[in-house]
Amino acid sequence: MHIRRKKWARPELHACPYFDEETEERKGKWREAFTRPGLPLHLEMGCGKGVSTAAMAADNPEINYVAVDISQDVLGDARRNIERVCGENPGNIRILCADIAGIERYFDEDDGPERIYISFCNPWSERPKHEKRRLTHPRQLVQYRRMLRTDGEIWFKTDDDTLFEDSRAYFQLCGFDCAYITWDLAGSGFTPNYISEHEQKYMAEGVPIKFGIFRMTQREPEFDPVRFRLTPGVRRRALELAAAGIRMPDAENVTWRAAEHGAAGDHTAE
Ligand SMILES: C[S@@+](CC[C@H](N)C(=O)[O-])C[C@H]1O[C@@H](n2cnc3c(N)ncnc32)[C@H](O)[C@@H]1O
Repeated sequence: MHIRRKKWARPELHACPYFDEETEERKGKWREAFTRPGLPLHLEMGCGKGVSTAAMAADNPEINYVAVDISQDVLGDARRNIERVCGENPGNIRILCADIAGIERYFDEDDGPERIYISFCNPWSERPKHEKRRLTHPRQLVQYRRMLRTDGEIWFKTDDDTLFEDSRAYFQLCGFDCAYITWDLAGSGFTPNYISEHEQKYMAEGVPIKFGIFRMTQREPEFDPVRFRLTPGVRRRALELAAAGIRMPDAENVTWRAAEHGAAGDHTAE
């Protein structure tokens, strides 16, 4: 996706009291960066223009938020949206410009967020070798595990069937239980749902939004997440079933044989 360079974005961000750029100084101390450090901490990975971030922060003054994105051009819009909805310097939100691929450089278990949001991340579904760039890929999930609080949750939304089905497998393989799932978020009546910029766009096109809450367990991943690759066959089967209106069995009922097939081995559904 091409993002237009905005001349105003960097100066506005650098003047913003709640903006940080690739700072490792806050690692383990993010809670102290807020007006009320004792509140729960939620992170948003790939917040984009911050449409849902701003709405969440305004609606939930009892939660502290860190919104992360790699692009200062979109974060410029996020800052403006936050200011419009939450006022000039809301005490419960910070913006971090950083590459989530290396997110453990910036957060650790002392930060212990209770929740991570991942909404409409790039599906990287065209070529299998690009899967590892997904924000839900096991190499990301193991990093989130290291920082999340016990029982911490990942709230994941997407329009993309392939990404959703693959991600369900990733979550299970990485020791997350599925606590909630729907293939039609708008129709499910689930609340609270803060609609993001991309969600608005897909809803206007009539695309059903897939959504799941994945809760971290003590179950550690039994494979090498850096080399992990999901076989195309598994994904193809999931998509065929989805096209036929049949959903993959709930994550709890699917056995993924990671350990038996070795680090980079094939992972097949029973
Ligand atoms: C498709 S947009 C979704 C934005 C927003 N969550 C929404 O739902 O409207 C994906 C966002 O993730 C950001 N992103 C992609 N890869 C990233 C990475 N490795 N680190 C940080 N941000 C990333 C992009 O800059 C972009 O703003």
